[in-house]
Amino acid sequence: MMKPQIAGTRCIHLATCSSTQDYLHNHLDEWLKILPVCVTATHQSGGRGRENRIWHSPPGLGLYLSWGFRLRQEKSLPWVPLAVGVVIAEILETYCGKKSVQLKWPNDVLLKGRKVAGILSESRLGPQGAICICGIGINVNQVETDFPPDLAQSATSLRLSCGPTPSVEELLNLLLKRLTDVLNNLEKQKIRGLRSRVRRLTKWMRLDSLVFQQGNDQHKGRFLGIAPDGGMIMLTGKGEKRVFYSGEIKMSGPG
Ligand code: BTN
Repeated sequence: MMKPQIAGTRCIHLATCSSTQDYLHNHLDEWLKILPVCVTATHQSGGRGRENRIWHSPPGLGLYLSWGFRLRQEKSLPWVPLAVGVVIAEILETYCGKKSVQLKWPNDVLLKGRKVAGILSESRLGPQGAICICGIGINVNQVETDFPPDLAQSATSLRLSCGPTPSVEELLNLLLKRLTDVLNNLEKQKIRGLRSRVRRLTKWMRLDSLVFQQGNDQHKGRFLGIAPDGGMIMLTGKGEKRVFYSGEIKMSGPG
């Protein structure tokens, strides 16, 4: 994979590493002055996802990227995974069509109801705001046998679920350009536009009974939308309106 060229972002490409996310964390102190930094890898031997899950990262089949940047407006932090998800989803829509792509609050992008991309947003708070380390994994060229059996029903790749498959480089360049724009807006707390883009991509979640898991607790209810602070508003079965900031929707996507 070629090293991406994005004005203002230092890009580092590794043929192989354990995890681009860990690589960035480990070098963060020495790179503080050169942020934003983007680390990509052709292969990860220890790719990781949310809740200590493994992110399978076979050589050359996916896009594995970690992006480190400063966010002075800490309030915008919950919007980071949503903003990144919107950017990924909108790019995928241009290849696969609007009907096939959904955003699953807060961190996943689905293609025809199966997970095609995941976002791992981590941050450190300091005197000058937050430093975000945002990991992005997109399944691009995998075929069925490239996924472990436990993911066979729930995961997909662009190659499997979308007609034309862009190259990993093409996706990466598009992604970095658009991420820079969206995050400039987060810094200025311009989230109105972003909120309506999230609303469109999460329409499918407006089911009557959505199952939502947070730790050991399961909540059933109706998804009402995204709050101005990035939380998910849900009307629980008990008729209570609650805002959640983490957790996972257990109901699989449409299609
Ligand atoms: C998830 O869906 O749980 C998030 C997956 C994030 C995977 C990416 S791949 C690049 C970066 N390096 C990692 O080890 N993880 C993230």
